[in-house]
Amino acid sequence: MSQKYPVYPDLAGKVAVVTGGSRGIGAETARQLARNGVKVAVNGRDQAAIDKVVADIRAEGGEAMGIAADTTDSAAVERMRQEVEQAWGVPHILAVFAGSGGEPVPTLEISEERWKAVIDTNLTATFLVTKSFLPGMVKEKRGSVITMASSAGRLPGPASAPYSAAKAGIIMFSRHLAADMGKFGIRVNCLAPSLIVTEKVQQNMPKEQQEQTARFFPLQRLGETYDVAATTLFLASEAASWLTGLTIDVAGGRVSL
Ligand SMILES: NC(=O)c1ccc[n+]([C@@H]2O[C@H](COP(=O)([O-])OP(=O)(O)OC[C@H]3O[C@@H](n4cnc5c(N)ncnc54)[C@H](OP(=O)(O)O)[C@@H]3O)[C@@H](O)[C@H]2O)c1
Repeated sequence: MSQKYPVYPDLAGKVAVVTGGSRGIGAETARQLARNGVKVAVNGRDQAAIDKVVADIRAEGGEAMGIAADTTDSAAVERMRQEVEQAWGVPHILAVFAGSGGEPVPTLEISEERWKAVIDTNLTATFLVTKSFLPGMVKEKRGSVITMASSAGRLPGPASAPYSAAKAGIIMFSRHLAADMGKFGIRVNCLAPSLIVTEKVQQNMPKEQQEQTARFFPLQRLGETYDVAATTLFLASEAASWLTGLTIDVAGGRVSL
């Protein structure tokens, strides 16, 4: 676990929900938020993985609760929202990061079932989570929503077609939401990371291939979970108080649209 983290004093005492917080980018984001004094609700589906992130945060003196909920299931999302709001009130920060399905598969081999599952896991889940939490934020007239796209939603590449389409959909959905929600003091911004070295990437991509791939990035390295978490904290903080509707390419210079 990285020990470095950015500090934004205005984040202290706020409440955040991180979907997909049980591992990878979301887990690092949850940890960095907690180190800034944010109370963090850590979501995922794997209870053991959620418990580990919550325990890590508590061991460092932070506040966290774990909530297992499949974000493609609107009833489960509603239960998660109720649990968070009953414990801590309406969240200030909503990091909608849960997603998967980018593994390359030739488009003609993708079944209808797989297409729908990947669209649901990424795009529909982003809609369901924001739909559930936004009414409270609208009442409070504040909030920062950070959604998770991918460089696959910016440029054609090896990622599967439904994943690329879902991530491009999240970018436009986020811009639409930003335009809708600005009058309520709610900011909505979207992240579009390129290759970020998570545990899953470490397992599936040999070190040599990682080094070769890094050479294609102007900054000559792959992304770390730290990079995405740090950008999220900036967007969540008052330092970004006049930024909304943006898509930020956390991509080492490889994507700059
Ligand atoms: N790593 C990259 O290179 C990269 C690049 C661009 C974009 N992204 C995006 O960043 C996000 C996080 O990716 P990662 O690389 O950190 O992946 P990861 O290590 O595989 O973690 C994925 C997270 O999403 C959660 N999740 C997936 N489906 C879910 C569902 N239906 N309901 C609730 N939670 C669900 C997982 O929870 P459980 O395992 O507990 O179910 C886990 O916490 C994803 O949206 C991904 O598309 C990643």
